[in-house]
Amino acid sequence: RGCKLVGCGSAVPSLQISNDDLSKIVDTSDEWISVRTGIRNRRILSGKDSLTDLAAEAAKKALQMAEVDPDDVDLVLLCTSTPEDLFGSAPQIQKALGCKNNPLAYDITAACSGFILGLVSAACYVRGGGFNNVLVIGADALSRYVDWTDRGSCILFGDAAGAVLVQACDSEEDGLFAFDLHSDGEGQRHLKATMTDNEKDHEVGTNGSLLGVLPKGSSYSCIQMNGKEVFRFAVRVVPQSIELALEKAGLPGSSIDWLLLHQANQRIIDAVATRLEVPSERVISNLANYGNTSAASIPLALDEAVRNGKVKAGHMIATAGFGAGLTWGSAIIRW
Ligand code: ACO
Repeated sequence: RGCKLVGCGSAVPSLQISNDDLSKIVDTSDEWISVRTGIRNRRILSGKDSLTDLAAEAAKKALQMAEVDPDDVDLVLLCTSTPEDLFGSAPQIQKALGCKNNPLAYDITAACSGFILGLVSAACYVRGGGFNNVLVIGADALSRYVDWTDRGSCILFGDAAGAVLVQACDSEEDGLFAFDLHSDGEGQRHLKATMTDNEKDHEVGTNGSLLGVLPKGSSYSCIQMNGKEVFRFAVRVVPQSIELALEKAGLPGSSIDWLLLHQANQRIIDAVATRLEVPSERVISNLANYGNTSAASIPLALDEAVRNGKVKAGHMIATAGFGAGLTWGSAIIRW
C-alpha cells in the first residue's frame, strides 16, 4: 500500500505589510530587509481574523482539487504552533469542512518543520493504519507572537495556511520515497516562545503543602531568536538531511526536479541549493511575497507552483523544513 499527494490548496490573509510599512514601525529599510532576507511583503491576520478559518479554506481548496468529498476524509492533521485553542484547533477544521463521519483531527506542534512531520505522519497512517484520505494542513499566525519592536525578528514573519491531501494508492504509484527527521532540544535557546509567569502560579508552604492558587491564565513570551545561530543551523543540517533522504530513497540528486525548502530566508535557500548543486531555476521560492509563514510555507509554495504550472504531475521534489525546537526534516516526494 502506497500513498500519494492528490490535491493542494492555500489561503493568506488580505492585510499586506510591505518592508516600507515596517520601516515606519522599527528602524529598518526595504533595502536592508530585501538584501538580508529576500522578503518584500508579508500577510498578517488582523485582530478578528481566524487562523482556523484560513486553514479550513486551504483544506477546502485541496479537497476540491483532489475531487474528494469531505465525508471521505478520515484524518485531519493540523500542523501549527499557534492554535486558537490550547487543546488543539484541528477538530474545528473538521467541523468547518462538514466531515459527517467524525474523522480524527488533531494538532502537531513542530514550528517550521511541522508540515514535513505532518506529511510523514499521514504516510504512516495510510500505509499502516488503513486510512485512505488524510488532510495535512500547515497553518501559523506567528504575527501574534512577534515582538513588533524587535527589528531583528519582526521583519521575517507572515501568516498563512496551506494544505495537501494524502491518499492511499497502489505501491507502484507511491509518492513519498524517503524521509529524514530530527530534533535537538539543546538548540531551543536560539529560538523560542516560552510560557511566562508559571512559576508564580502556586503558593507553596515550606513543608511543600499548597497554600493557595492564584487565579490566572498563563501566556507565552514573544519570539526570542538568535538569527545568526538559526541561520548557521539551517545551512548546516538541511543539505545533510536531504542527502540522507535521497540516499535512503536510492535516488541521485539529479533525479530531483524541484528543491522546495521552508521559506525562511532567501540566503538560506540559496546556500542549501549551492551545497546540493541545484541550479536556481529548479528552486521554488515565494517568500518575497509572504515572508516566513512557519508550518504553512511549504504547502503555500507548493500550491502556488502547482497552480502556476511549474510543478507538474510526476515531478520529483526534495522538500525540507527546519526551525524552532530545534527541529528539522526532509522528504522526497512525487507530485
Ligand atoms: N533593519 C536594519 N538593521 C538591522 C535589522 C533590520 N531589520 N535587523 C538587524 N539589524 C542590524 C543589527 O542591529 C546589526 O547591526 P550592528 O552591526 O550595528 O550591530 C546588523 O544589522 C547585523 O545584524 P545581524 O543580526 O548580524 O544580521 P544577519 O545578517 O544575521 O541577518 C537575520 C539577520 C535576517 C535575522 C538572519 O540572521 C536570519 O535570517 N536568520 C535566520 C532566522 C530564521 O530563519 N528564523 C526562523 C526559523 S523558522 C521557525 O521555526 C520560526
